[in-house]
Amino acid sequence: MIGRLNHVAIAVADLAKATSTYRDTLGAKVSEPQAEPDHGVTVVFVNLQNTKIELLEPLGDNSPIAKFLEKNPSGGIHHVCYEVDDIIAARDQMKAMGARVLGDGEPKIGAHGKPVLFLHPKDFCGTLTELEQA
Ligand code: CO
Repeated sequence: MIGRLNHVAIAVADLAKATSTYRDTLGAKVSEPQAEPDHGVTVVFVNLQNTKIELLEPLGDNSPIAKFLEKNPSGGIHHVCYEVDDIIAARDQMKAMGARVLGDGEPKIGAHGKPVLFLHPKDFCGTLTELEQA
């Protein structure tokens, strides 16, 4: 059911430093920082040939990645995102298989302007998993 890997998200405490690492050390193409107040993060997109890396820095007081960075002060992989054709059908299939959908279970508009859902890490190999309708 899942399609392509859309992105891997890496939480970082210092977005400018992380951007420099990807742009200057690794030689990747990176976007300008994009504030996502609804999601409590500022994002830089690293565009690779076959997928993207999203560098996430906390934005605001209730950022969903603040706790993760407390536990992982040097940053770390926060989630992976897979593409699906139909997010409602995908959600219903996940729930039917006993997987937990986070939040109220309704898709939200993600950083790419497309509907997304998050699945509980305990049901997916210890990894927070995002589905995005491609
Ligand atoms: Co994501």
